[in-house]
Amino acid sequence: MDLLDTIVRLVWLLGAAGFVFGLMRMNSPATARNGNLISAGGMALAIGGTAVLLVSNGSISTTALLIIVAGIAVGGGLGLYMARTVKMTAMPQLVSLFNAVGGGAAALIAIDDYIRLASVQSLLPGSIPLEVSIPTVLDIVIGGITFTGSILASGKLMGIISGKPIKVPGGQLVTLALALITAVAAIYLWAGNVSVPILFVIIAASLIFGITMVLPIGGADMPVVISLLNSFTGTAVAMAGFVLGNDVLIIAGALVGASGAILTKLMADAMNRSVVNIMIGGFGGGEGTVGAVGAEGGSVRSLGMDDAAIQLAYAQNVIIVPGYGLAVAQAQHAVRELAELLEARGVNVSYAIHPVAGRMPGHMNVLLAEANVPYPQLREMDDINPEFDRCDVALVIGANDVTNPAARRAGTPVSGMPILDVDHAKSIIVIKRSMGRGYAGIDNELYVNPKTGMLFADAKQGLADLVAAVKAL
Ligand code: TAP
Repeated sequence: MDLLDTIVRLVWLLGAAGFVFGLMRMNSPATARNGNLISAGGMALAIGGTAVLLVSNGSISTTALLIIVAGIAVGGGLGLYMARTVKMTAMPQLVSLFNAVGGGAAALIAIDDYIRLASVQSLLPGSIPLEVSIPTVLDIVIGGITFTGSILASGKLMGIISGKPIKVPGGQLVTLALALITAVAAIYLWAGNVSVPILFVIIAASLIFGITMVLPIGGADMPVVISLLNSFTGTAVAMAGFVLGNDVLIIAGALVGASGAILTKLMADAMNRSVVNIMIGGFGGGEGTVGAVGAEGGSVRSLGMDDAAIQLAYAQNVIIVPGYGLAVAQAQHAVRELAELLEARGVNVSYAIHPVAGRMPGHMNVLLAEANVPYPQLREMDDINPEFDRCDVALVIGANDVTNPAARRAGTPVSGMPILDVDHAKSIIVIKRSMGRGYAGIDNELYVNPKTGMLFADAKQGLADLVAAVKAL
């Protein structure tokens, strides 16, 4: 190993340390932006180091280098443009598209490597060793599934494909058959046989498997599926690292794979569902599509703007509960303005953040951080729940399922889902446009609670009117 090789390996190590450190900083909204930059810096080091190594040992032609630079410029430029212009509510589908290209790229590396090996080596049994054929096949299978599965998931969220679970007769049998074909073909290659046609059987089966896996899953479950596919992308990339003998790719892939898997589990837990239950599909066909359980009697009390303003302005403790509707209405700046106004009047304001409020992990944190809401005011569910007992007014803005007391009873689609204890507050104000249902498609018993006043409005407009009404007091 010459000096340059050693230096590049040290640079890779530094890059890998950047990923770990950056990931650690993503633990809190206050440091997440910085963590993202550190991780990106780590990736730049890894790519730069690899380029220097390839050029110096002459294993890359000038044309190939130019193609790579052009690829980075076009891909990086497109990625930057999309990430900068995407609406927060469309983030899950963008992440899914990124997963698709990540998984697809990792699979292409393995396909290229295998075809190259098969053409240069004699096609004798055993000429491609197991330590190469195992990661190669796994990379192609996982990357292929991720590629088509992620494109489909993204299409469902964009509305290009129906968000409802699409069940084809015999679909599960097809999925099973594809899994079987892949397994048999993989064992054939691992047994030492070299065959490019068999490799293409694996590629085709994996690509179709990705489609049959995601098709029966409802659009509203897509964030969990996307998180799972994100974990797949990481695993495929780690396998590509084994194929290429690139340590930094193995580390980066393993980190993405592990964090994606943890996130998937956390999301499923916060919805009180198992990952298997979600993957089998059926529930979550989009907003308002699943059979409702009726709220148990009671009538809905509509609240006037001035009444709501008086309650908030003369309260001691107000807890704001943001939900998906706040994100759709882009009301994050308006809510910060109202909170600042109340604080100026001596009211204690905090925000109750449910782990699956909105449509993606951290949705509310990112949204409120964008509006410069101070991080210490964002309180996680377990931390804030005991405080609803002392809260004068809970102001629920475009949140529905995450506040539904029906979750505490058995036999409803949200049963067992941990909720924010909004109904413990002395008084409750709910801003939403109608009695429309949330993601789970059921009525919310909170809305017929005698303590609840409904302020029917678009979140942004309603908050602007509330700000004006508080100012006028
Ligand atoms: P939801 O239960 O989906 O309710 C959102 C409410 O916002 C709707 O009832 C809707 O009522 C209202 N709304 C829509 N547009 C609005 C606007 N412009 N202004 C005011 N209100 C508006 O939201 P949630 O409470 O945040 O719960 C999230 C749900 O998504 C959970 O069931 C969760 O399990 C699911 N989910 C979350 C994730 C993640 S990771 N966050 C992933 C998968 C699934 P109106 O139509 O009457 O206005």
